[in-house]
Amino acid sequence: MRHTRIIVNRYGGPETLQVIEEECPQPTPGQVRVKVLAAGVSLPDVLAREGVHPETPRVPYTPGWDLVGVVDQIGAGVSGFELGQTLAAMPISGCYAEYVCLPQRKFIRVPAGLDPAECVAVILNYITAYQMLHRSAKVKAGQRVLIHGASGGVGTALLQLGRLAGVEMYGTCSAQAAEIVKDFGATAIDYRNSDFVKEIHHLTTDGVDAVFDGIGGDNLWRSREALRAGGRVVVYGFQAKLKGGRMASSAPSGRHPIRESAILGWYILRNKFLPGRKSMVPYSIQWLMRLKPVWFRQDLLTLFDLLHQNKIKPLISQRLPLYQARQAHELLGGGGVIGKIVLMPNR
Ligand SMILES: NC(=O)c1ccc[n+]([C@@H]2O[C@H](COP(=O)([O-])OP(=O)(O)OC[C@H]3O[C@@H](n4cnc5c(N)ncnc54)[C@H](OP(=O)(O)O)[C@@H]3O)[C@@H](O)[C@H]2O)c1
Repeated sequence: MRHTRIIVNRYGGPETLQVIEEECPQPTPGQVRVKVLAAGVSLPDVLAREGVHPETPRVPYTPGWDLVGVVDQIGAGVSGFELGQTLAAMPISGCYAEYVCLPQRKFIRVPAGLDPAECVAVILNYITAYQMLHRSAKVKAGQRVLIHGASGGVGTALLQLGRLAGVEMYGTCSAQAAEIVKDFGATAIDYRNSDFVKEIHHLTTDGVDAVFDGIGGDNLWRSREALRAGGRVVVYGFQAKLKGGRMASSAPSGRHPIRESAILGWYILRNKFLPGRKSMVPYSIQWLMRLKPVWFRQDLLTLFDLLHQNKIKPLISQRLPLYQARQAHELLGGGGVIGKIVLMPNR
């Protein structure tokens, strides 16, 4: 049997995504093969394609952090899985494909009756949002938070989970997304036409308790200025690297997985020597998953439960067939996407 898979042959723009057809992978002992129903498209995929994400695989590779699929073949020695069962996984790469084989320990069961696109939107974005809110910032009801990129994938997840946690929310976004951000219960701040630090101090007088910053670069210092004394910036991305979905700097193309983490480390170290009792803490879903796999499993099951109870509702901006992976990257990189883009390989 043959299947379709997307590969990146060299680091660069969306044109480096290619559709290939090949023999279906066969599960080795201990592996389960799933027929992929939904694969998430995320900015980390775009950053890896450009070669700058810390998790950038070596080329050629298949992008895709997370998937939801149904069990279609079971390798020797696997127990506790049945054909037709719906499963979720976050292997970090490899999900833009019709069929994927992974070790059985990588899979988590998806409760029956949920929409695969909504479930996949929950994996990377909502676990990131949930763990940043509850494990990194440890927010309490009544505290104030500032969410950058509030209309994006992680941003909308932070808004929905922040509302459930009872925090007062401010969100930076572009003007056309302001209504969405307000609908989720936050005060929208137009990051293109206003100074968010001034706006925060104007709206709150003494600043916020936590800022969630996936923008990175000099934006981190500005986020720090928006904090009240004792507050914390949770640093989780470096979107400032990209402009129009391509590298914003004239940095040489290639694979640079360490560089951005090293720069981030330098910012965090420098913060320690600045006055004002304000902390900067890094968050990385992949490192927390490796260090605390039990939290990852537990938090994903909590989120599936919230989805089941309709307490969270991921915004799906587009459901595209697998062969439109390139268009998905162009859309995401171009900006203005509200919510999550999902590839549906076997629709
Ligand atoms: N550390 C982790 O574990 C982890 C996990 C997941 C994601 N991430 C990171 O999280 C970040 C967001 O990912 P995502 O998938 O949510 O991306 P996304 O869906 O593309 O959302 C990004 C949002 O940021 C907005 N934006 C762009 N520049 C901005 C600026 N200067 N100030 C405020 N908002 C700005 C964009 O708005 P417009 O399009 O309207 O301009 C967009 O709504 C990325 O850096 C990603 O690498 C990190």
